[in-house]
Amino acid sequence: MVQSPSVEAGQLLTLAEASAHDLGISIDDRGVAVELTELKLRFHHSFIAGPIVKRAIQTNQTLLKACNNKQRNIRQVLDLTAGWGVDGYTLARHGQRVTLIEQNALIQAIVAHSLAQLAADPANAEIAGRLSIEAIDAKRYLQNLPGDHEFDCIYLDPMFPAHKSTAKPAKEMQILQSLTENSDLETCFELALKQARKRVVVKRAARAEPLGQHKPDLVQRAKTIRFDIYLTT
Ligand SMILES: C[S@@+](CC[C@H](N)C(=O)[O-])C[C@H]1O[C@@H](n2cnc3c(N)ncnc32)[C@H](O)[C@@H]1O
Repeated sequence: MVQSPSVEAGQLLTLAEASAHDLGISIDDRGVAVELTELKLRFHHSFIAGPIVKRAIQTNQTLLKACNNKQRNIRQVLDLTAGWGVDGYTLARHGQRVTLIEQNALIQAIVAHSLAQLAADPANAEIAGRLSIEAIDAKRYLQNLPGDHEFDCIYLDPMFPAHKSTAKPAKEMQILQSLTENSDLETCFELALKQARKRVVVKRAARAEPLGQHKPDLVQRAKTIRFDIYLTT
């Protein structure tokens, strides 16, 4: 069951107006259009069709190797850095139950709206049933997590610092970087290491130092990124 409330267009507009940014939000048949006018950046957020779905359906993704290891029976994932929910949605599409946590109320509301749309679509309701999102700070969420929780994998994808030598990130990531920032992620990582039932997975830029200088037990590498995996059992 989707726990996210259905977010009305009016609520999204109110949150967008309250944002300090020159932000345009509208809803059309392609999903939620998010536009950062000052940077001339625009994209559609939707879990039903479009680029997020195209990416998510690919079966050979390193994310899946890191978080969806069939032999280890990783069924439930806690994604502490939901952002646009692309990684979480990808994992849910491939069968896992995912709880998304996002500190930024506007970003959370956009993702919650897209999730409600997904749940209302009979062809996609089953996937939506595996996803939920909460607007809360990850540290607070972990501090209140009961000892008998069922999260096999806790996932973190901190925003990477801009690097002069690397290409600009995709426009949806540039918008995210303008709207929000990392908060207390090293503390969240330490808490996650104590709480994950089976593993913690951290997405890093290919050549970045491991988070908190903790050497991972396993690493799954892609072209520009890698996933550091910490086994907790
Ligand atoms: C790089 S983005 C994640 C992108 C995401 N993996 C996706 O697939 O769209 C990082 C997100 O983590 C959120 N974040 C950072 N620190 C947080 C915290 N302490 N609690 C909750 N969310 C946090 C940011 O607001 C941002 O939206």
